[in-house]
Amino acid sequence: MAMSLLRTSAARRAMMSTRSSPAVFARGKATLPDLDYDFGALEPYISGQIMELHYTKHHQTYVNSYNTAIEKFESTSDVRAKVELQSLINFHGGGHLNHSLFWKNLAPRKAGGGELLDSKSPLTKAIQGKYGSYDQLIGAINTQLAAIQGSGWTWLVKDSNSGDLEIINKANQDPVTGPYIPLVGIDAWEHAYYLQYKNVKADYFKAIWNVVNWKEAEKRFLA
Ligand SMILES: [Fe+2]
Repeated sequence: MAMSLLRTSAARRAMMSTRSSPAVFARGKATLPDLDYDFGALEPYISGQIMELHYTKHHQTYVNSYNTAIEKFESTSDVRAKVELQSLINFHGGGHLNHSLFWKNLAPRKAGGGELLDSKSPLTKAIQGKYGSYDQLIGAINTQLAAIQGSGWTWLVKDSNSGDLEIINKANQDPVTGPYIPLVGIDAWEHAYYLQYKNVKADYFKAIWNVVNWKEAEKRFLA
């Protein structure tokens, strides 16, 4: 069910308390996936106000605009029009994919947010083998985040050919593609932090690790 159809906060809370897999597409149309937690559940690291706007406005707009672009693409036989629509499809479809992964990348502290995996975990072993420790990995990702000019994302990915971990930056809403499997993505767009952290985005990059869902990252790593 699209978030925009839910008119009452009670209905919204009821929907958001339901755990389910991201419903990225339904009946050929993209739809906003359910959240596994309330908007305020990531505080104090990410404010409820940011979460509500980010999810109900920004992500919803990517979903709507992607669906509109796809409808236009399918309704025309003009090759030039189809080619021109591809950048819109990439931007809004990418925004939808990226945010659907991002919500699952996060978890409230009481639901395991920020909790590192133990030393037996295959992902822990891969992180230690490549970066030395979680702290060093987080430092390397934060360095990449700080290097983003304008809007974009930093991702910890697994190269499906080699099995190696890598850190990659993506501009705007370009999604992770090719051989890379996205494990953890951090949204470096201003809309993700500005209401709370203003111009000090480095504080947002430090704080968000308190609510990163490493179990979800490992699930993707092992898939
Ligand atoms: Fe975002």
